[in-house]
Amino acid sequence: MSDKNFYITTPIYYPSGEPHMGHAYSSIIADIFARFKRLEGFNVMFLTGTDEHGLKMQREAEKKSIDTKRFCDELSEKFKGLSKTLNLSNDDFIRTTEKRHFNAVNEIWEKLLKSEDIYLSKYKGWYSVSDEAYYDEDEIETKSELKYSKVSGSKVEWVEEESYFFKLSKWQKQLLEFYSENPNFILPASRRNEVVEFVKRGLKDLSVSRTSFSWGIPVPNNSKHVIYVWLDALTNYLSALNFPNVNDNKYIKFWPADVHIIGKDILRFHAIYWPAFLMAAKIPTPKRVYGHGWILSDKKKMSKSIGNILDPVEIINNYGIDQLRYYLVKEVSLGNDGNVSLKSLTDCINNDLANNFGNLCQRVFAFVNKNCESKIPHCKEFKDSEKKLSNEIINKLKLLKDLINKQDLNTYIKEVINFSFNTNKYFNDSKPWELKKGNEEKMNSVLYATLNQIRCISILLFPIIPISSEKVLKTLGIDNKDFKIDNIKKINFLKSGTKIKKIDILFKKIENDN
Ligand code: MSP
Repeated sequence: MSDKNFYITTPIYYPSGEPHMGHAYSSIIADIFARFKRLEGFNVMFLTGTDEHGLKMQREAEKKSIDTKRFCDELSEKFKGLSKTLNLSNDDFIRTTEKRHFNAVNEIWEKLLKSEDIYLSKYKGWYSVSDEAYYDEDEIETKSELKYSKVSGSKVEWVEEESYFFKLSKWQKQLLEFYSENPNFILPASRRNEVVEFVKRGLKDLSVSRTSFSWGIPVPNNSKHVIYVWLDALTNYLSALNFPNVNDNKYIKFWPADVHIIGKDILRFHAIYWPAFLMAAKIPTPKRVYGHGWILSDKKKMSKSIGNILDPVEIINNYGIDQLRYYLVKEVSLGNDGNVSLKSLTDCINNDLANNFGNLCQRVFAFVNKNCESKIPHCKEFKDSEKKLSNEIINKLKLLKDLINKQDLNTYIKEVINFSFNTNKYFNDSKPWELKKGNEEKMNSVLYATLNQIRCISILLFPIIPISSEKVLKTLGIDNKDFKIDNIKKINFLKSGTKIKKIDILFKKIENDN
């Protein structure tokens, strides 16, 4: 067992709506990092789940006249299903309606009470049920006599009730110190600046309980109140590690989390409230929060009313899951908003996957099948041109690992697909079909070196397109246990004589009629 541990999480999703491209995006990104870290030999804990409490869920269930817990059970299943459809490699799926989660939230509450960070008072202000968030007067605008949050555009309602408060204001100084001592806590840097500016403007105490509805975790010793859904939800990252049992192996190995992957809209909760709650409860803070941008369709935020929603399940059914995973990370720059469309999806599948990587594998395998009795040929030694080819990847391994550690997926993917382009070029320029007539030894070296590049590129692509990469690696006789970044350095890893099985088309070319 390796002693290197890595804990990564997705946001836990509100299950009330249909799973959409934004959910798919957060999950796929996190899955790619989790898979890469496993290839590096880390023990990885990758968590996703559903956020099931709050007024939104209670109202939806009431509208449908269904028992709220039963309603949650059904909806949470849908999200579990999405995890499978997206081919996520999550190690656990947490639900905030589970007993283990209740225990963790209760403990956090008790700790905050004990440290005197919670007091009882009265809340008066604006609340958005859809965001489960409180907004200040200057964050509200009026449209046709209705009030909306300027931040998210969602409707807000006036709330006036007894409430427990968390002394967020008390933590302003410590938070600012924490951000400056941990400059990579919030990434990308532009988002860190936004958060720092917001905190500098001053923090108000935060209402952390509600009395006007009951669907939540009751406040210990005052069950008139339920705990604010964000204090409840954020704690999921601890409950999955069996907190409050701090002697539990999972907690010891994986806390503090290495990175919470989230969308930019929920940065305030993760980058301000979450570390403040943890500091107050004397629990170590996570190492990083990465706030990705929005996926836009027709350059606009996807919404039912505009009718520009791209359904991930429909796209997967039509184009394939590896294709969607590859496209989202190639097309959208992780920290920024990015536009997606069926036209750019098909262009990306055709250019990068069908014509480039897929074509490389298919033509080389076909050549070996035809000319080498379908076996990996024997290679006496790597000549300069073969060495140059394989060194191109080996010399960039450190850079590639650094890119992943900085969550710079776009540069990573561009580097990797470029290896495939260069290998195609090497194969063309070496003209093995001519070497066959009289220089079989050189032909074998060229083929061996090309197959070795295919092996290395497939390992590097495995986190992004796991199904296709595994197919290629299996064709080359590589076991799953040998899908490892370090094996890329071993240029003699392929066993000569291994039979190369026939492989179906990896990526079908798509007629672009959009
Ligand atoms: N339940 C909270 C998260 C609690 S985490 C302790 C929540 N849920 S959500 O279902 O509304 O959103 C989950 C994630 O989906 C967020 O990271 C959000 O940014 C992401 N996305 C939703 N729509 C999106 C896009 N169109 N594009 C990219 N991601 C967006 O918030």
